[in-house]
Amino acid sequence: MAFAVEPAISDLKSDYDRDGWCKIPHRFDDETVGLLRERIDSICGRRRPEVVYEKDGKTVRAVHGCHAFDDICAALVRHPQLVTLAEALLGGPVYVYQFKVNLKQAHEGAAWPWHQDFAFWREEDGMPRPDAVNIAVPLDDVHEGNGPLVVIPGSHTLGLLDLPAMTGEDEKNGWLQHVSADLTYTVTGARADSLAREHGKVLITGRAGSLHAFHPSIVHSSSNNLSADRRALLLITYNAVGNAPTNPTRPEFLVERDSTATTPGGDGRLRLVPDVSPSDG
Ligand code: SIN
Ligand code: MN
Repeated sequence: MAFAVEPAISDLKSDYDRDGWCKIPHRFDDETVGLLRERIDSICGRRRPEVVYEKDGKTVRAVHGCHAFDDICAALVRHPQLVTLAEALLGGPVYVYQFKVNLKQAHEGAAWPWHQDFAFWREEDGMPRPDAVNIAVPLDDVHEGNGPLVVIPGSHTLGLLDLPAMTGEDEKNGWLQHVSADLTYTVTGARADSLAREHGKVLITGRAGSLHAFHPSIVHSSSNNLSADRRALLLITYNAVGNAPTNPTRPEFLVERDSTATTPGGDGRLRLVPDVSPSDG
């Protein structure tokens, strides 16, 4: 276990199991963040199927699957502390199910409505159980004004909420609607308001390079970025090896087909340091 203090991981796991999210007391240092940012910026400039745009067709909204073609992103998903963390939270070996960076460009980045990730993974891909975990690494400082992720603690225990009956139109729109501002599977605003009154909500803010984990069933959203500051959020989803989807038809850059356990591997270019910044609110 590469985390400095062994009991810390069990504390993290009990926070995660109770709340559906937790802050990791480590962050990537500024040089590492700079390197990741360079790679993602370069990918955003390419016309590739993994690059998705906002409704204007020119502002990059997200890039997917970069670990399959960029060596730094590939090293990131194998970072020993990230793999160890995911294994500890899920209780066994893991592989990378999905890798994405949501860009939330200054003034242009559009919201993500309230939703649960597991709705997409179960309904679209046939993921049997929510035995996966998202690790979030902002590549920019995240503050209240640039569209931080907002989570409803404890909502991961409620199962899937408000699943719609699929229409022919939804089916025709396909995977692009799973990554657009008009998501296919949302939790209604009324339901989210009522859950937030009962459980509260947490804005996941913090400096670039900080680390959080959140559960596939936690109800979460983020607002439009009305500020002058970009908010790029890198998300790695590790899935338990025994929880591979039964019906993956979406592109491989959204749903990894190979569920062989990820082998941890160190890379001196990617450095974690203790993160002593105050927790989210
Ligand atoms: C966001 O980038 O704000 C949304 C991330 C997510 O829904 O997983
Ligand atoms: Mn999500």
